[in-house]
Amino acid sequence: MGSLNINGRAVTVQAEPDMPLLWVLRCELGMTGTKFGCGVGICGACTVHLDGDASLACKTLMSDLHGQKITTIEGLQGAEAQALKAAWLDLDVVQCGYCQSAQLMAACALLRHKPAPTDADIDAALSHIVCRCGTYPRVRAAIHQAAAKRRPV
Ligand code: FES
Ligand code: FES
Repeated sequence: MGSLNINGRAVTVQAEPDMPLLWVLRCELGMTGTKFGCGVGICGACTVHLDGDASLACKTLMSDLHGQKITTIEGLQGAEAQALKAAWLDLDVVQCGYCQSAQLMAACALLRHKPAPTDADIDAALSHIVCRCGTYPRVRAAIHQAAAKRRPV
């Protein structure tokens, strides 16, 4: 049992120390926006933010959490998130959608750290997130579009 800070709210959970955050989110709290892909840290589908950094929820145990601010796709807000969501819609990025919450979480963390990312920056930040539908070119284009909208003219 412990207390987590999720999307700006203090939440008490019953999970044991060796329970991965992904299970806590999806199974205990019913927050299914964060996806289960592989469960072993190789697909990226479970990406959330811990104190603003993109992190894998399947590789984060309850015992790793010591008050970090956890943000999931359900609570993703702010100027970068808004710009990304608009670009995602504008460029029709999504196909089946399964990987897309992770793509958005990683993209948002990237834009907050690097407001004008290069293709190489995008690949470095997102290449671990597997998209079986092959939306990578549209994800990249949408990040560039969102970044351009965020830059002062
Ligand atoms: S479910 Fe976490 S990396 Fe695949
Ligand atoms: S949109 Fe289908 S897996 Fe990425």
